[in-house]
Amino acid sequence: MSDPVNLSVEDGIAFVIIDNPPVNALSARVAAGLHDRVTEAAADPAVTAIVLTAVGRTFIAGADITEFGGDGPAVDVHTVLAALEDCAKPVVAALHGTIYGGGLEVAMACHYRIADDAARLGLPEVKLGLLPGAGGTQRLPRLIGVAPALEMISTGKPVTAQDALNLGLVDRLSKGDVRTVAARFAATVARQKSPPPRTRTRTVIPPAPSFWDEAAARIGKSLRGLPAGPHILACVRAAVERPFKEGLDLEGQAFAACVRSRESEALRHLFFAERRAARIKDIPRDTATRPIARVGVIGAGTMGGGIAMCFASAGYPVTLVDINEAALTRGLSTIQGNYAASVAKGRLAAIDRDAALSRIRTATDYAAFADADLVIEAAFEDMDLKRRIFRDLDRVCRPGAILASNTSTLNIDQMAAATARPGDVLGLHFFSPANVMRLLEVVRGVATAPDVMATAMDLTRRICKVAVVSGVCDGFIGNRMVAGYGREANLLMLEGVEPARIDKALTEFGFPMGPIAMGDMVGLDIGVKAAAEAEKAGRGSDDPRPGIIAKRLVAAGRLGQKTGAGLYRYEPGGRRPLPDPVALAIIADAARELGIEPRDIDDQEIVDRCILPLVNEAARILAEGIAQRPGDIDIVWVNGYGFPSLRGGPLFYADSVGLPAVLNRIRQFRNRQDPRDWTPAPLLEQLVAEGRRFADLED
Ligand code: 3HC
Repeated sequence: MSDPVNLSVEDGIAFVIIDNPPVNALSARVAAGLHDRVTEAAADPAVTAIVLTAVGRTFIAGADITEFGGDGPAVDVHTVLAALEDCAKPVVAALHGTIYGGGLEVAMACHYRIADDAARLGLPEVKLGLLPGAGGTQRLPRLIGVAPALEMISTGKPVTAQDALNLGLVDRLSKGDVRTVAARFAATVARQKSPPPRTRTRTVIPPAPSFWDEAAARIGKSLRGLPAGPHILACVRAAVERPFKEGLDLEGQAFAACVRSRESEALRHLFFAERRAARIKDIPRDTATRPIARVGVIGAGTMGGGIAMCFASAGYPVTLVDINEAALTRGLSTIQGNYAASVAKGRLAAIDRDAALSRIRTATDYAAFADADLVIEAAFEDMDLKRRIFRDLDRVCRPGAILASNTSTLNIDQMAAATARPGDVLGLHFFSPANVMRLLEVVRGVATAPDVMATAMDLTRRICKVAVVSGVCDGFIGNRMVAGYGREANLLMLEGVEPARIDKALTEFGFPMGPIAMGDMVGLDIGVKAAAEAEKAGRGSDDPRPGIIAKRLVAAGRLGQKTGAGLYRYEPGGRRPLPDPVALAIIADAARELGIEPRDIDDQEIVDRCILPLVNEAARILAEGIAQRPGDIDIVWVNGYGFPSLRGGPLFYADSVGLPAVLNRIRQFRNRQDPRDWTPAPLLEQLVAEGRRFADLED
């Protein structure tokens, strides 16, 4: 194994060079190497100054997350940082790429920082449920002041090199090779022989007395449920009120507590799961992709418009086709409105909006797709219609163009069979609103060519989505699982639990919105229509209970938020769900007709009844090979359905509860409820019998 930190001396400047691909993570080996090389350079009389630099795409992008265990900080870097900061010779950090977490903490212990002007600097530990653990909470406030430091640490958002310069986080920007600029700078400061500035000796200006209470309220809200929140505040406060060493000790204890927390484990699991999900097990990572220069979208409705925005915002020219001229005009005006709202909220520059809009051209004829490399249809969920569309696309699109469906449930293979190029067909299931939601299910048909899959995965990264591969089945991964979630929410209502109690139990579990309010928001008619479509296609359910409430509400004109009433009622123009006796009476009538007796149900049962079907169905999905790995399913549910990230997704959650307990509970429900709904998945039984967890199935 080659040394991850090397030393070379040129003209009296020692270059300490980190080389630990892919992102130069600060592993224990890198930390040890850094310490040794800096100590050597400091002792070498031929060396007048030290430049700390890294090869490859970035300077250190953080501590090595794979080394984090449950026994305290994985990387004890304080001696390394002290070697840098205490060095009698000037130490200059030459920064490029993403200088994150432990990387920025190393840089802050150096005497000077020169950054490439495209660099980004940040302390994103909070996104992993952590706080900086290598002096970041103590050095950052000393360098840039308390308020901006707290902002960076509590949001985890990086700053640009220019912002870092303005904040005083870096001393100079480099337009050329940062290492050369840093070496020149190091030689100059070495000649001046002035004592090197040490971050830890700088004093912090205390903020106004009201600052801490305001900050506590803000962080309490933004980091709700995250143990790191209060620690971040306490540590930054210690940087102001206590000596450096004491602040460092406090930070060390806080980091150790956070790294062991279930929440941080969950977030770290999701970090790696997201990256693993990008890999397709039987398709090599270096598979050549097809060039995608122009994208076509069919359907100017909510989905089609959102999809067009995703590509236009990412720089792709888009052809948006709707055979209905009026729908096209309406769709374009919605797109313009969405962009205008982003500009008004300060999330998008007007110039970027104009550029994105200029990339969208519209047409009413599929002939406009002649130059498209990828066409995504977002028409109604009707198989006959979709097959017709695919037949037409096959005719007008150039050979090699990829044809995709945004269907959320229908069979991709049947659509592919309508073309003479099934290898070029796949599903790209965007979630609504497509321009906002990060998730994309990439549905692989039996015939989908490997390079088409590789292209789709590459493309989703380019449009800043997180992609998960799904096989073909009814509802794919996410919507197939949602069936059990919705079924139990409906049965609970029939058993006498008020909608608001169900929503409360699940929002307390961590969902941003409960299933009942969600149904009202999406529109109850959507589910009713989908059920009718499934019935028509011979995929209908023989159980009338789960769908009865929505059917009756829709028949009564209560479609949800859009009609001012669904399972809740809404004030005109309002979105706050209010309990509604009319809906309760409809539910009670339906329950009576079905002979379902109301009974007392506690919150734990509400949660278990809604969450455990997710786990059970996920086990079937895994066993059938529809999902590649448990983490992929967690990614789908966290990014597409609001499953709380602090619980790591349904399968990480099941592992943390313990699979034997999960299986027992499912068996209890099977004995009391309907065995059709609660038969344990064979894979779940097998894992329990073998004493294994879902995590053991990750690759
Ligand atoms: N530790 C270990 N592995 C890491 C890592 C880290 N800090 N950061 C990235 N990697 C790995 C990824 O898992 C991935 O591995 P793979 O190729 O085997 O899947 C590989 O590096 C490349 O990562 P990405 O696919 O994410 O590459 P990108 O170019 O898209 O993004 C990045 C690069 C911006 C650096 C992004 O990976 C990132 O944000 N990383 C996490 C940064 C972070 O959170 N740093 C703080 C860590 S905690 C810390 O420093 C504690 C300290 O205070 C003590």
